[in-house]
Amino acid sequence: MHSIKNTRFLNVLNNEPVDRTPLWIMRQAGRYLPEYLETRKRAGDFMTLAGTPELACEVTLQPIKRFNLDAAILFSDILTVPDAMGLGLYFEAGEGPRFKHPVRTPKDIENLATPDPETELRYVMDAVRLIRRELNDSVPLIGFSGSPWTVATYMVEGSGSKDYHHTKRLMYADESALHSLLSKITTTTIAYLRAQADAGAQALMVFDTWGGILTPRTYQLFSLGYMQQIVDAIRESHSSIPITLFTKNGGMWLPAIARTGCHAVGVDWTLDLRDARALTQDTVALQGNLDPGVLYGTHAKIREEVQRVLESYGAGHRHIFNLGHGIHQFVDPENVQYMIETVHELSPAFHK
Ligand code: CP3
Repeated sequence: MHSIKNTRFLNVLNNEPVDRTPLWIMRQAGRYLPEYLETRKRAGDFMTLAGTPELACEVTLQPIKRFNLDAAILFSDILTVPDAMGLGLYFEAGEGPRFKHPVRTPKDIENLATPDPETELRYVMDAVRLIRRELNDSVPLIGFSGSPWTVATYMVEGSGSKDYHHTKRLMYADESALHSLLSKITTTTIAYLRAQADAGAQALMVFDTWGGILTPRTYQLFSLGYMQQIVDAIRESHSSIPITLFTKNGGMWLPAIARTGCHAVGVDWTLDLRDARALTQDTVALQGNLDPGVLYGTHAKIREEVQRVLESYGAGHRHIFNLGHGIHQFVDPENVQYMIETVHELSPAFHK
C-alpha cells in the first residue's frame, strides 16, 4: 500500500499490525548531536539553518543516518508561522525565541498578515521537497505546526514566559480579541499544514506545548477547539494523511483530544500509558512517553524504564515509542543509541 520501505510508523497510525513498536524522538535533530552543532555553526544562527532548505535537509537527515529510527521530522520550528505573519522572529544566544513585534492590542491583531505558505513560507516547502527526495522513501516524513494556542502565547508574550500574564490578560479582559487572533493563526496553520502535505509530508503533528496551563473550560475554548478545526480541515482535504495532537500536561483531557478525530495522541510522562490507554480505549494510537531525563541514566536504568513504558502500554499495535517531550541538549548520543536498541530488542514481545 505504501511505497515507503519502513512502514511501521504509518502502519500504527493507520491501525495496522507491526513486528515491533516504531520509534522516533521529539527534537531528534538538535543540539545533543555534535553534527547538528557543527552545521548550526556553519549556518551562523538558527533562522539561517531553518531558512536554508539544503541545511534544514542536512540536519533532518542527521539522526536518520546515525540511528535506526522509524520516522524523520522536518527540521523547522513552530514559530516560522508567526514570523511569516509579520512578527520578526529572532533567537538571542542561549535565551530562546523572541519577536520584534509582539501582538497585544486588537489593532495589532487586525494588522496581522495572512501569509501564503508557498510564498512567505516557501523555504519550508522547499525543505520538505528536498528531504523527501533525499530520504528516498526509506522512512516517512512528519510535517508539523504549533497549536494556535501555543503559537499565540509566543506572539502575545513576545518570547517564552513563566506566567503568561499578557496572554491571560487578553483572555480574561478581551476574549473576542484573543478569539480573532486564534482564528487568524488557525487559518494560516491549516494552509501551512496542507502545503506541507502537498510538498510531501506523510504525517502531520500539532504541538500544543502550553495547552496544559489552561483550565478545563479554557482549554476546550482556546486550545482544543482550534485544534479541532485543524483536524477537520486536514481530514477533509487530505483524508489519507494521519494527524497527531500533543498537549503537554494534557493527560486529563486525553478523551476529549481523542474525540477530535485525530489518529494519534502524544502523551507526556506525567501519566502511565496504561491509564492513557484506558482513557482513550484504543480509538487512537498513543505516542510517548519516556521521561527525557531517563537518558541521563545508566544503561541498566534506561533498559528498566524502556521496559516499563512498553509494559505499561501492553500488548497491541497502537503504540509509537517516543519521549514524553523533546530530548535534552546535554544527553549523550550513545545513551540514545542504547535506548533505540533496547526498544528494538524488547518491543517485539508486545506484537505477537
Ligand atoms: O523535533 C525535531 O527534531 C524537529 C524540529 C523542531 C524544532 N522545534 C527545532 C528547534 C520542532 C518540532 C520544534 C517545535 C517547537 N519549537 C515547539 C513545540 C515542541 C516543544 O518542544 O514543546 C516549541 C515550543 C518551539 C519553540 C522554540 N524553538 C523554543 C522554545 C526554542 C528554544 C528553546 C529550546 O528548546 O531549544 C526553539 C529553538 C529550537 N527549535 C531549537 C531546535 C533544535 C534549538 C535551537 C538551537 O539550535 O539553539
